[in-house]
Amino acid sequence: MPVFKRLILYLKPYWGRIVLAAVASAIYGGLDAAFAYMVEPLLKKIFSTKDTFIFSFLPVAIVLIFIFRGITRYISDYFMGTAAQLAVQDVRNEIFRKNILLDLNFFHRNQTGSLMSRVVNDVAAMQNSVAAIIAGLFRDMIGFVSLLGVIFYRDWQLALLSLTVIPLTAYPASILGKKMKYAARRGQEEAGAFANILQETFSGIKIVKAFSLENTMVDRFRQANLNCYEFARKMAKYDALSSPVSEVITSLGIAAVVFFGGSKVMAAKLTAAEFFSFITAMAMLYSPLKKLLASYGNVQRCIGASERVFEIIDATSKVVEPAAGYQLTPDDGRVEFRNVTFKYQDDIVLHGVNLVAKKGEIVALVGPSGGGKSTLVSLIARYFDANEGEVIVGSHNVRDIAKESLMGHIALVDQETILFHDTVANNIRYGRPGASDKDVMKAATAAYAHDFITTMPEGYQTSIGDRGVRLSGGQRQRICIARALLKNAPILILDEATSALDTESEQMVQRALENLMVNRTTFVIAHRLSTVVNADKIVVLENGKIVEIGTHQALLAGNGLYSRLCTQQFGN
Ligand SMILES: Nc1ncnc2c1ncn2[C@@H]1O[C@H](COP(=O)(O)OP(=O)(O)OP(=O)(O)O)[C@@H](O)[C@H]1O
Ligand SMILES: [Mg+2]
Repeated sequence: MPVFKRLILYLKPYWGRIVLAAVASAIYGGLDAAFAYMVEPLLKKIFSTKDTFIFSFLPVAIVLIFIFRGITRYISDYFMGTAAQLAVQDVRNEIFRKNILLDLNFFHRNQTGSLMSRVVNDVAAMQNSVAAIIAGLFRDMIGFVSLLGVIFYRDWQLALLSLTVIPLTAYPASILGKKMKYAARRGQEEAGAFANILQETFSGIKIVKAFSLENTMVDRFRQANLNCYEFARKMAKYDALSSPVSEVITSLGIAAVVFFGGSKVMAAKLTAAEFFSFITAMAMLYSPLKKLLASYGNVQRCIGASERVFEIIDATSKVVEPAAGYQLTPDDGRVEFRNVTFKYQDDIVLHGVNLVAKKGEIVALVGPSGGGKSTLVSLIARYFDANEGEVIVGSHNVRDIAKESLMGHIALVDQETILFHDTVANNIRYGRPGASDKDVMKAATAAYAHDFITTMPEGYQTSIGDRGVRLSGGQRQRICIARALLKNAPILILDEATSALDTESEQMVQRALENLMVNRTTFVIAHRLSTVVNADKIVVLENGKIVEIGTHQALLAGNGLYSRLCTQQFGN
């Protein structure tokens, strides 16, 4: 059971709690057996000697025993429970850490909601089961074994007889357990689908409203909920079945023992007191037995959830970091694409692209939408690796450069303006963690963001909410530019960085960017050609191929795609 073994490994750091809980469990289980054992001497004393002292002491003793038993139960449940929670917390931290390190392809293949569901729901399912299993397993095992000792001590033949039912109950328990595992796994998958709908609806709430999709979404949600219920229902069914099935089967054992034990008492081979002690122990024995069998179902359920969690923890990134990666220096500003071919899935998106950007050069990428511009620049930062050919930064293949060094070398302003739920200042500071407030302000000023930031209620300390909803598209873009400016990296990638700005602010930001581009290798992607006319090199990409390269003047003279695009935008 390798999955379960792995779970146990997560418990290792908390062995202190587990040992404490185990000792308490052992005492708890042992008390049960002691109680069953005591039935015999007690009955004998009461009935044969009519001892009044014992009779009046008995109620007090019972309460005392149960108080002591209660304390051990508390200790065992509390420490087992917290050990399990802590272990599962480690699992959750690890799944998040591993998840975030995976390459972008992984994130494109898996829906956001279902990834979230694994971290939230599957780990929660593990948590419930692990806590239930280890807290119960130990106590029940010790209770079972010590009670077994009592019944064998009282009468080994009857004991053997009563044990014959165990294999009979184990069989249905194992079948139910397997069914439970399957239902649990499918149920968790459905919970993932369900989380997807939530995530899509809430993050796309504007579109949902704009297109009056509320009812459609409610229906989708209801359906997903129903799908979840289907598996929850199955789980409830197997859970509900396991107790009655094992109880009916164990009643066979009780019946047999009552019959044969009763005959032995009548034949005077066993005293009534011994027989009662035996029956007490046996009745108590079936309870841990039943729980042990039920925990088999829990184990299976836990394995179902764990498998989904370990799938992520074990997933490997296609973008592999080199063992001893090269450390870039600020002089490594040159970028070269050598015969680069790339595909996301089956369709080739870049066909044998050759392109050199010398250190400090401004390279503009233009061309029709879907031509592969964003894809091409994403290869520089190794969001993906080229299928064929090489991407070279400085004089090294990006595959041989240490990941952190490469990332520190590139500043990006993306088509998507991602801001985090944090203050304006901190959102800019993600560009260079630890930067001073003065540097943050300088970057914001250069990005023409300072003025609107200072008019906000709390200035730089204003929280911009998750996804920065309170800002306009242009404002968001300027904060993203400030973030990239602050990073001060040798390679700058601007993917439609000014597309959401009006002409006036665009011109201002353009000037800021021009200052920034000095001595930096810059890739500018723009549909508005006015922003690229000054580039050292304009590259026209169409259907994943470079169709033209040159300066603005040269390309205009060439009368190709670029000059046609210019005519469309500027007229003649
Ligand atoms: N994650 C992805 N998975 C699969 N295909 C993708 C993915 N991202 C982009 N593509 C495809 O790759 C091609 C190039 O896309 P890319 O985003 O590079 O174009 P682009 O030139 O940046 O377009 P735009 O000007 O509209 O931003 C398109 O055909 C697109 O459908
Ligand atoms: Mg693009």
